[in-house]
Amino acid sequence: MAEKKTFYISTPIYYPSDKLHIGHTYCTVMADSMARFKRFTGYDVMFLTGTDEHGQKIQKKADAKGVTPQQYVDDVVAGIKDLWKTMEISYDDFIRTTEPRHIKRVQEIFKKMYDKGDIYLGAYEGWYCTDCEAFWTDTQCKDGICPDCGRPINRAKEEAYFFKLSKYEDQLRELLKGGEFLQPESRVNEMLGFIDQGLEDLCISRTSFNWGIPVPINDKHVIYVWLDALSNYITALGYPSIDGESDDKYKKYWPCDFHLVGKEIVRFHSIIWPAMLMSIEAPLPKHVLGHGWLLIDGGKMSKSKGNVVDPVFLINRYGVDALKYFLLREYTFGQDGAFTNEVMLKRMNYDLANDLGNLVSRTVSMIEKYNGGIIPGAGPEEGPDAELKALAVSTWEKVEKEMDKFSFSTALENIWILIRRANKYVDETAPWVLAKSEEGKARLSTVLHNLADSLRVVSVLIYPFMHTTAAEMRKQLGIGAEPQWDDAKVFDVLNGEKVEKGAPIFPRIDIEKELAELEAMKQEAMKAAQAAAPAPEKKEEKKEAEEKAPIEFEDFAKIELKTGTILSAERHPKADKLLVFQVQIGEETRQIISGVAGTFSPEECVGQNVIAVTNLKPRKLRGLESNGMLLFATDKEGKFVFAETKTDSGCIVG
Ligand code: MSP
Repeated sequence: MAEKKTFYISTPIYYPSDKLHIGHTYCTVMADSMARFKRFTGYDVMFLTGTDEHGQKIQKKADAKGVTPQQYVDDVVAGIKDLWKTMEISYDDFIRTTEPRHIKRVQEIFKKMYDKGDIYLGAYEGWYCTDCEAFWTDTQCKDGICPDCGRPINRAKEEAYFFKLSKYEDQLRELLKGGEFLQPESRVNEMLGFIDQGLEDLCISRTSFNWGIPVPINDKHVIYVWLDALSNYITALGYPSIDGESDDKYKKYWPCDFHLVGKEIVRFHSIIWPAMLMSIEAPLPKHVLGHGWLLIDGGKMSKSKGNVVDPVFLINRYGVDALKYFLLREYTFGQDGAFTNEVMLKRMNYDLANDLGNLVSRTVSMIEKYNGGIIPGAGPEEGPDAELKALAVSTWEKVEKEMDKFSFSTALENIWILIRRANKYVDETAPWVLAKSEEGKARLSTVLHNLADSLRVVSVLIYPFMHTTAAEMRKQLGIGAEPQWDDAKVFDVLNGEKVEKGAPIFPRIDIEKELAELEAMKQEAMKAAQAAAPAPEKKEEKKEAEEKAPIEFEDFAKIELKTGTILSAERHPKADKLLVFQVQIGEETRQIISGVAGTFSPEECVGQNVIAVTNLKPRKLRGLESNGMLLFATDKEGKFVFAETKTDSGCIVG
């Protein structure tokens, strides 16, 4: 027997810094449906997902929670695995970057690149976004704001290893111009634009934190997260083989067919990743596909805005298949799409309850009512029969064609064209009229048969996208749960099966009532979130500061502001962004810690006049107590400037 063709698809490996939201599940649901579709259509599939567990952000989160980074990620990753289980995600492997199998291979990859002469030790100074764990050049970040996440960024300088990315500029340009590698097309021009600006060598190690994979030739350094993270796509397959360990999977599945990634990380996958592979002389992935974002209120979901959509909540309320269908059908691959409850509920109600649910329930009911629950065999063709049958047996081809383009939405729309056609067929043939006369009975059998057989075809076609619904439909039709893809290519299969009416596969939703309920729940949740203590260390983003709701004068009056002078300043021993100040405020000296080490050297702060919030509860920051807060403004370049007055120390401001 001929070997099956292989198909390797990956999702990004997610940061386990927090619970995943609906935006994350979007990519995984697409990858899962594609993996299921390929398995169903005869491929030997490798579907990889996982978690990207190193880096400063995770370390900080763990510190804040008072646990080790490993404990922190173990906990979040368990939740992520649970989520994928609930969503019936059929991954073949889940790689964690803290696993020994990954760590040792990343170190080997580093060595290979080093031995090739592609890595050197230098000093890095640049704009660093802690949240994205990315350095940016002056041209990339305007106004001191990270071009990806929009948060303020800081200058950073440290000894670091660099990867000679610039060496691969021409090869990368060729790769991208080839047209096949990166999709959609619009992203290609964006990336070529990046390259044309001149690629800077890439900082690939850090010394200011230690939650990472040690650089194998210098353990003062940990490997900067992107080199670590991107390698997952091959380390999971056993590359490079160490001590004779099997790399059969690598030989079998690499190069990857599709890396599915969100648009903001296309840059890493279509420039840095291929360059790394060029350096270690490994084949390049066949395709990188950049998808759009699910937007809420026109922007990304964020905890601080309180608009993060929890997939588990939606699953509990509407079911896994309804959620998957909505995500795959509603949004166009490659483009951003707005998420609202209304859009979601309408999609679920119209397509699932009205179109599919209705067709299943009326077909099964009519077979029970008019034919004792037995599906009749095929009969002579009449009227709309030929059109319905032709559509039923040709839809699989359209689905395959659309799936080849990752057009999940159009693939599903084609299946729904068949479903709607079958519903129309019921109205055209009016079985309830046929049932009234003796001569109508033969025709009625044919009609019921055609409807049942159309539903059978639909159950095959939707199988990769909604296998639980497919199985339920097949149960109601009295046929085995596991279809074959080829079953969608034939008609007139059913004859004599006993139907079994079940509960509606998708109950109708009263949209207005449901929207009101969801809104009420959201308000409740927001109140609860406000009641929970705010994170005082978090620097407010410019945008969010502008968006703050008005407060009462009494609220403002609670804040005590006083003038002071900085007596001394030093770097926080455990946090590269923090400076520890001793501030003279009137008669007293207070220790106040601020996250401005990226802007000021300790020396230049001494003698500086400041305005301090003096009635904040003391707080420990990385082990040292901060007793108040200094006020800063952000200038046009996004740099901090001390807020100050010319009055004596200890004066009340307000
Ligand atoms: N850890 C890196 C990826 C390393 S891959 C070698 C990372 N992790 S992430 O958790 O921040 O994001 C993972 C993916 O989720 C990204 O592809 C990102 O685009 C996607 N999404 C996060 N929010 C999203 C939406 N609101 N909508 C759609 N996708 C979104 O980046």
